[in-house]
Amino acid sequence: MATVYGQAVFEEYLRANSRSKELNDRARSLLPGGVTRTSVYFDPFPPYMERGSGCRIYDVDGNERIDFSNNYTSLILGHCPPEVVAAVEAQAARGSAFAAPSRHEVDLAGEITRRVPSVERIRFASSGTEAVMFALRAARAFTGRRKIAKAEGGFHGTSEYAMVSVSPDPARAGDQQAPASLAAAKGVPEGVTDDVVVFPFNNAAATEAIIRQHRDDLAAVIVEPVLGSSGMIPARREYLAALREVTARYGVVLIFDEIITLRLAMGGAQARYGVTPDMTVMGKIIGGGYPVAAFGGRAEIMALLDPEGGRAAIPQSGTYNGNPIGMVAGLATLRQLTPAAYDRLNGMGEELRGRLGAVFARRGVPAQVTGAGSLLNLHFTKVPVTDFRTMRTGDAERLRHVFFGLLNAGIFLAPRGMLCLSTAMDEEEMVALVRATERALEG
Ligand SMILES: Cc1ncc(COP(=O)(O)O)c(C=O)c1O
Repeated sequence: MATVYGQAVFEEYLRANSRSKELNDRARSLLPGGVTRTSVYFDPFPPYMERGSGCRIYDVDGNERIDFSNNYTSLILGHCPPEVVAAVEAQAARGSAFAAPSRHEVDLAGEITRRVPSVERIRFASSGTEAVMFALRAARAFTGRRKIAKAEGGFHGTSEYAMVSVSPDPARAGDQQAPASLAAAKGVPEGVTDDVVVFPFNNAAATEAIIRQHRDDLAAVIVEPVLGSSGMIPARREYLAALREVTARYGVVLIFDEIITLRLAMGGAQARYGVTPDMTVMGKIIGGGYPVAAFGGRAEIMALLDPEGGRAAIPQSGTYNGNPIGMVAGLATLRQLTPAAYDRLNGMGEELRGRLGAVFARRGVPAQVTGAGSLLNLHFTKVPVTDFRTMRTGDAERLRHVFFGLLNAGIFLAPRGMLCLSTAMDEEEMVALVRATERALEG
């Protein structure tokens, strides 16, 4: 772990996490890397968790940390909120899954369609990956076209068509105005990259030109209103408005991936931006901490999934789709999320971006904090971060150093510098984060 920023933070991490190290050593003979999810892994090993309560988590070494990851933005109420625990406990005693629908999926569907402007009809799934896969399939079936377009650096889960240009090597990624379509994993079939068109996020002129060029073959444009895994980079409003206009002009289905951004407002980012897509993919907060995702949109597109009177044009299976545990957890969560709750969370995010930015400015550290509402990301670069390539100008080594400094100081965040807030947090946690960041810059 050689670094120009000093070894002490790494040594301290090793010292304070010896039980996690033992567990990881054992786990490596069972699970590749000792984990079962790439995004929770970092070198040399991640801490293994024992429990969480409110905004705090506790690992097997007894370290207590404030959870600014919230399971990658999904735990908007923090860990074990009493209303969700009560709903899940009650449902667990009544049955966890049936090969039949229940009223709970109807209730959650009702709650979401009332909130999210684009969603006239909805279907549930168990992961965002699946929900994206079905949304893309629906767009293909609806338009009779085969290609999809996505942003460079956009993350939409791990199905074949989503695994393109997720985090491409800039040296291989070609022209900034017309990025290359590159497989994001070994094993993605070649034909997939032929059918996925990549556009530069936040660049309306270049994106419009790409959509125009492929308009006859293009079924869907899928985009995150805030580019998430590439560093919480908000789309400009004009950019989303331009995407809406050009996709409508050419009959291309516009899909917002709101798996993360649904936490920005009652109606998600689409309500905040005032831009309504044809379809929306959701996940994370709608399951209240349990594995629930969904896709929905215009009734005429979603009608392709209707099996009445024969075979559905798009059969959707999934053993745990709409399972009552996830449904009641999601419903109990959304009921807590009033306009006032969103305002408070978003206000705290705004405040933290300001305070952290002031720390960097005071110390003359070339860094910035991007994000929107309760979503934040640290970037160690002077270059304004507006898309994937500007994000990649960040000093990865400094980020890694600060990341370990924060872990040691009791702040849990994503290794890529992502932080997000839960309603379980307050001024105390904001102060703790700012102080820990100041210390991590010194370490
Ligand atoms: C924007 C976005 N889309 C899709 C996904 C995939 O969701 P899942 O991990 O539930 O498959 C994620 C997960 O982090 C995401 O952030």
